[in-house]
Order: sequence, then C-alpha cells, then structure tokens
Amino acid sequence: MRYHIWTVGCQMNKADSHKLASGLDKLGWSEVAAPEEADLVVLNTCSIREHAEQRAMSKLGTLKKLRSEGRDFKIAVMGCMVGPKTGDLRRQFPYVDVFARPQQFEPIMEAIGYEDLGGEFWPATFVRSEAPTAYVPIVHGCDKFCTYCIVPYRRGRERSRTVADVYEEVAHLAASGVREVTLLGQTVEAYGHDLDGTPDLGDLLRTLDDIEGIARFRFLTSYPKDMTERIIDAVAELPKVCEHFNIPVQSGDNDVLERMRRGYNIELYREKVALIRSRTPDVAITTDVIVGFCGETDAEFQRSYDLLEELQFDKVHVAAYSDRPGTIAHRELADDIPQEVKMARLQRVEQLEAGISARINSRLLGEDVEVLVEGRKPNADGEQRWYGRTRRDKLVHFAGDATPGDLVSVRIDRTSPWSLVGTGKKTTVPT
Ligand code: SAH
Ligand code: SF4
Ligand code: F3S
Repeated sequence: MRYHIWTVGCQMNKADSHKLASGLDKLGWSEVAAPEEADLVVLNTCSIREHAEQRAMSKLGTLKKLRSEGRDFKIAVMGCMVGPKTGDLRRQFPYVDVFARPQQFEPIMEAIGYEDLGGEFWPATFVRSEAPTAYVPIVHGCDKFCTYCIVPYRRGRERSRTVADVYEEVAHLAASGVREVTLLGQTVEAYGHDLDGTPDLGDLLRTLDDIEGIARFRFLTSYPKDMTERIIDAVAELPKVCEHFNIPVQSGDNDVLERMRRGYNIELYREKVALIRSRTPDVAITTDVIVGFCGETDAEFQRSYDLLEELQFDKVHVAAYSDRPGTIAHRELADDIPQEVKMARLQRVEQLEAGISARINSRLLGEDVEVLVEGRKPNADGEQRWYGRTRRDKLVHFAGDATPGDLVSVRIDRTSPWSLVGTGKKTTVPT
C-alpha cells in the first residue's frame, strides 16, 4: 500500500507528518511523491492565515476530481484546520474519509484498517530520519491566546514531554545519524512548567548535551516574556547550542502589542535582545512581524519599521494580518486596514530587511563558516552544489567534497540577503 502526505504550515506540522510517515512505514506502507499513485492521501493543514487554508482547499478540489475520475483512494485531512468539532468540515467536504486533529493519528489509522494499534505503537524511539537534521517537539499547544492567533484553539493547551522522553528520542535520532536537532514549541521557553520539578529549557538542553553524535541544538519559537536569564545563560554556555534565537516581536508599538495581548511591551523586548547580545556576542536574531493588524495607524506601523531598523535582525518573517474566525480579534476588533495598505506596509518591511540582511551577510565575505551539509541541488547553471546551514542559520551553497551530515568549513565568496555561496574545505570539522 502506498501513501502520500502533503504538508503546509510550521515545523510542528512537518514533525507531525514525519511521525505519521514513520508509523505507516512501520506497517509496511511506502511513500509516493504523486497523490495519483497513492492509496491514502493525507493533507496536513495549517490555519494561521486564510491563504494557508485556501491552499488546502484547492488541493482538496484536485483530489475530488481524481475521485470523480474513478480512482479509488482514501482522503485524510489532519492538522490545524481540524478543530474539536468537525461537523462543518464534514458538510463542506463530504468526500473526505477522515478528519484528524494535530497529532491525533488514530482516526487515520482506523480509516485504513488498523483499529487498535495502542499507545505503544508510537514510542519515543519511533521517528525515522534519513536526513542529518531533525525536529523534536518538546512542548505541544499554546496557552497564550494572542488575539489574532488560531493556534491555541487548534493545538490545545501547553503540554510538555518529559525530559526522559525527549532524551530517548534525541538519543535514538543520534544513533540513526542525525547531527542537528531543533527542539520545537509554539512558545518553547514555556517548556517544563507543567512537569514534576519544573525543569526549564536550559535544564533540558544541559541534559541533552551529552548525547554523542549530535553536534548542534536549536530551539523554536521564543516568546519574549517567557525567556529567562537562566535560559539565555544556558544557550551561551553550551557549545552545542547554536547562536540563534527566533523571537517574534509582532509589532514595535505598545498599543498594538496591547491589542494583540502579547503580554509584553517594547521596552521588555529590547531588554531581552540586549541581554542575549551581551551573553552571546555575534548571535543571530530573527523575528516575526504582523503588519496591518486591527486599527494599525501609519504612526503605529512606523514604530514597527523603526524598531526593525534599530534592532537589525538577521531575518524578518513579515505577514499581513489575516482575520481568523474563532479568535478574540475576530470577535472584538475590526479588520479595518485595507488590503492595499497591508501590502504596501509588507513591502516596506521586506525592502528594509533585504538591505539589513544584505549588510549583515556581507560581513561574512572571505570568512570561513561551519556548515552542516544537508544535501545537493543544481544551481542556476545546472552545476551540482552542496547546501547546508551555518550555526547562525544562514543557508550556504558550496562546491567541493562533502557527504550529507558532514560539518564542513566553507570559505564565503558571495553573499546576498538570503544566502551565501562559497567553497568547501575538505577537512571535516571534528565534534
Ligand atoms: N508561537 C509563535 C508563532 C506562531 S504563528 C509566536 O508566538 O510568535 C507564526 C507566525 O504567524 C506568528 O509569529 C505571526 O507573525 C504569524 N501570524 C499568526 N497569526 C496570524 C494572523 N492572524 N495573521 C497574520 N499573521 C499571523
Ligand atoms: Fe499564537 Fe501567541 Fe501562542 Fe504564538 S504565543 S502560538 S502567536 S497564541
Ligand atoms: Fe499553522 Fe498550526 Fe503551525 S496553524 S503555523 S500548522 S501550529
């Protein structure tokens, strides 16, 4: 039997798809690249913006057509489009065989004839990995309820995995050749508050540090208010933990932050960035920004713009506000910024950031950086190039000898806002 999984959304969704794929493989199924060849097609969906949902709907349209042409296969929809109640979805998409909430694979397994696999079927040592990098969710869900955000409604309350459970999974991944692990949580610093002894992210990183074979740890996504000096210190101290933080600011204006109910002001945000930069010099910091949130005036937007200029982030993920039914903002605030204004603000941020990223990256010209090799791709001229990331999460393409999983020293000879190009030295950096 053959399956096809289509995934959109964040790293959490990628991790979920990977886990489901591991389960299907264990049952003897094989993955195919084309939905036309599959007995089971799974759409792992995202609801963060309307656009993400539209992509899933158009995919569903294609599958419906395949069905009407007489192909016999099961359709499963999982992930964040599936809330606690599925009545509306069932009415809208009657041809879908099964709906499954994030990480609840049982309904899918049942729909393909595996009624009671039980919890033991999905142990920590379960996930396969052919790639040298892997995502490991450590805290599920989110308790923050930012007014614009759908995630808490779709992924439920915060639940941390135990340190022992995470350790087992990371050790297993290391034994199968993984060299870099990214620990995941919507607010990853919330890790542990619900566990016995309340270990924090720093404690977890210290415990994982001795796992042989893992050269690098990363973690995503940071929530400014939950980030403590203890965690910042752990990152600074531990050599395997990469010098990179992704700390979404969302807005540079205190009134907007208040309407978003982010729970911090810009002064606190600045302090956290300053603390991180003082403990880990040369750290890469990336952020997320929403433009055109309910009632955002030109002056409020300008404060976001000015903050980005002031703090000089390595990268900014910018999104135009998208009203999400079910959220607090949808109920209580008007989505009153015209689409053209949202788009114009988005473009201003992108332009600004392209300049900042270009300057930051250009400092690496002529430098040697450590790259964890992930794979190979042809460049624009059709020549094969290796690619991978630096500890500061810069994408590097290079020519030279390598194997996926190697740590290679690369001399940078071209830079752009988005990536670096260089030449690899044969010496593999020892770990
Ligand atoms: N937990 C993380 C990120 C969650 S979602 C955090 O607290 O920041 C990823 C990003 O999507 C967010 O950082 C935000 O910038 C964006 N986003 C979330 N809801 C959105 C909405 N309704 N419209 C536009 N962008 C949104
Ligand atoms: Fe959404 Fe806010 Fe939770 Fe992030 S912290 S997932 S933005 S509710
Ligand atoms: Fe999307 Fe759900 Fe992630 S809404 S961004 S897939 S948590």
